[in-house]
Amino acid sequence: MSPPSPVDRSNIRTAVLPVAGFGTRFLPITKAVPKELLPLLDRPLVDYAVAEAAAAGIERVVMVTSHGKDALPDYFAVNPDLERHLEERGKLDLLERMHALSDLVDVVTVRQRDTRGLGHAVLSARAAVGDEAFAVLLADDVIDAPRPVIAQLMDAFSPGRAVVALMDVPRPQTARYGVCAGQWLSPGRLDVQSMVEKPAPADAPSTLAIVGRYILPPEIFDLLEQTPPGAGNEYQLTDAMAALGSVTGVVYQGRRFDAGSLPGWLAANLYYARKRPDLAQALDELLKDL
Ligand code: UTP
Repeated sequence: MSPPSPVDRSNIRTAVLPVAGFGTRFLPITKAVPKELLPLLDRPLVDYAVAEAAAAGIERVVMVTSHGKDALPDYFAVNPDLERHLEERGKLDLLERMHALSDLVDVVTVRQRDTRGLGHAVLSARAAVGDEAFAVLLADDVIDAPRPVIAQLMDAFSPGRAVVALMDVPRPQTARYGVCAGQWLSPGRLDVQSMVEKPAPADAPSTLAIVGRYILPPEIFDLLEQTPPGAGNEYQLTDAMAALGSVTGVVYQGRRFDAGSLPGWLAANLYYARKRPDLAQALDELLKDL
């Protein structure tokens, strides 16, 4: 089989950001603060995902929220009082920083009525997305990449097919991920022939794990509606993609942090601090001192 031909990436203009989960691994803080608003230095996790989408040419973000998560759309909304305050004090650089992302993308919000899994969250965005291919980014997968990972996936997209980001993981970790197996189309590009959500290490068809970046064709919505609950009794996006049957896996280039777990979030903070000229030295001194 020949590799699917790339299409104009500008065809994909909408990104869905599911942010409705409970974030139980971060309790108790997630009782009051949505996981996706946890800080990575001075920006919340969700900011990195939206910045990645915008850098890949995305114009519209559909945020899938749930009860208690209104602070997420607030983060992207205009705050006239604060803007006046900054303007009056001549803090124009801060004002500009606040506008940087919201000027690039439109953020709309939809509600996931019950928190019934990632597949259900994506289905909740159906009316807002419409009948076109779209991107999905999970904000707790933070990936520092030479080129936005979602753009790397767009390069591999062709109509009717899904594209997933793949990472090789140690076999004992397969039960944390959706896992794919298939045939290599070219280096780093896989024609996915089977996918399983959270397989036990002994049952995993490979060690190629799906991380939180996807391009999905609109055909996925009917399949999400038909797919019964799967692993963890949740509606799994992986099961609907398996039913679609046409999936390309891309072993992306970049360094990924699982910022949805405490060790991963901590590592991401240290990594990004080390990359910041105003923090790197202070961090090194602090680490020596500890
Ligand atoms: P996770 O699997 O990390 O679940 O979801 P979670 O609830 O956020 O966190 P833990 O595992 O309890 O600690 C991956 C992404 O999918 C979203 C989450 O908000 C997160 O961004 N999600 C998950 C939804 O939007 N709805 C759901 O029903 C489940």
